[in-house]
Amino acid sequence: MSTPLEELPAEPLLTREYETGRRAEIHDRLRTRYGAVAPVDLMGQSVWLVLDYPEALAVLTDESLWKKSLAHWRAYTEGRVPKDWPLLPALECDMVIFFDDQRRMAARAALEAAIEPFQDLSNPIAQRLRDLTVRYADELLGFLAGGGGGLGGMAELCGQYARPLPLMVANHMLGFPVAQGEEVIMDVWRVLDAGPDGPEAIERLMAGLRELVAQKRARPGEDVPSYLLAHDPDISDEELAWELYLVLATTADETGSLLANTLVEALSEDMARHSTMQVGFYGEIINHAAIANPPMHNMTFRFPVVPTELGRFGIAAGDPVMVSPAAAHTCPHFAGGVGGGAGAQQGALLTSRAHLSFGAGPHRCPAQDLAFMIVGIGIERLFAHFEKVELAMPADQLPWRSSPLFSGLRALPVRYLLTEGRARTTALAVVEEEHASAGERPLTERPERPSPFWRLMATLRRRARHGRG
Ligand code: HEM
Repeated sequence: MSTPLEELPAEPLLTREYETGRRAEIHDRLRTRYGAVAPVDLMGQSVWLVLDYPEALAVLTDESLWKKSLAHWRAYTEGRVPKDWPLLPALECDMVIFFDDQRRMAARAALEAAIEPFQDLSNPIAQRLRDLTVRYADELLGFLAGGGGGLGGMAELCGQYARPLPLMVANHMLGFPVAQGEEVIMDVWRVLDAGPDGPEAIERLMAGLRELVAQKRARPGEDVPSYLLAHDPDISDEELAWELYLVLATTADETGSLLANTLVEALSEDMARHSTMQVGFYGEIINHAAIANPPMHNMTFRFPVVPTELGRFGIAAGDPVMVSPAAAHTCPHFAGGVGGGAGAQQGALLTSRAHLSFGAGPHRCPAQDLAFMIVGIGIERLFAHFEKVELAMPADQLPWRSSPLFSGLRALPVRYLLTEGRARTTALAVVEEEHASAGERPLTERPERPSPFWRLMATLRRRARHGRG
């Protein structure tokens, strides 16, 4: 008979050490003490943390044993999780990532049908999105370089580039009337970081998304909500709003994190290589960043439906189990060192395809190609605009966001030198075009009302200055 999870000594996971980028050391320590799976304290709740790659893969790929619906979480159904537990707003969401079996399959089929037109590059909709992404990137880079004199300057690439770029893509894919975008993304960050204002933020978000659903039912367009409705006209407004929230959060937040993480990787490379970077090389560097720093460093819980063995422990039915891609990527089975032998890489699975940053099994991310497209363009356009970019502080001192699930930089300060002949620009042609297609008057004719884009930039800068950029 195994000791129940709640009775095991569990060290708090989210310590200062964990939040200041020394996560790998903590994973190693837990692995040495407990093996492949460790009991941890997550903001007051006892949770199993899966540290090793083989066990992580086993949990992710066996849906008959491991469920995601909170109805399988014993402590939750028995009322032992406080109503104000900070992670609840990120978990109590009625969307595919928390569905099992038939319900998951139906919701997933609808989402794949709605996302695929944007990532299948033989489709004109995907080609338009790719071209727009290039233009969004050029606009943002022109804007961030537009403030100073001369050819060189300082920029904060998270707040001014890596976050707004995928947000603009998400805005386009969701078919938001332009004016709604900025408030929405701020609230996504409040929910995902398990902050104190998460419950109010998710309320506001859902209200905005319900409004969007009503608009798209009345006037469909070439966007994710309209494609979801076309695939399943009977989907309820509430479920549709939740699925849109998932698409918004993943596109804007996780893709932004991966872009920033990849920029750090790229800036640590020899700059001479950037001018000759080929598309294939971007793929490699993005994969490398995804392995070193998965944007979703811990996944939302899974619960076994019957008691099971995992690592050195017996896991009771309904215990919460959190797979950590970040830990699995440093596990010797993945990174090397298993099987003895001379080479440290012996037995390693270190290939681009095997990593867990986009998940594995039935819930695997359906939009990896789209994420790679956005991040690849983000990197390529940056190096087209700037002849030289360098970190303005040592890489090991960059500020990381503190979140139990998501990993990303708060800020990425750089010094840059513009490529010769590349004009600074403050003209927002592409945003103007979107306004026009949304039936709004051109910005130049509306001096009384600042553009949503400008307000977004101002808000992002304000947040960056207050440490949440
Ligand atoms: C760098 C960007 C991204 C990363 C790192 C990422 C990562 C992930 C991961 C790890 C999962 C699996 C979660 C689990 O098994 O519990 C997942 C699922 C999912 N992702 Fe992504 N994602 C990214 C971008 C996107 C984008 C752009 C979209 C939509 C346009 C998207 C839509 C989804 C959906 C709908 C699911 C749920 C699938 C299911 O439950 O069947 N993701 N993502």
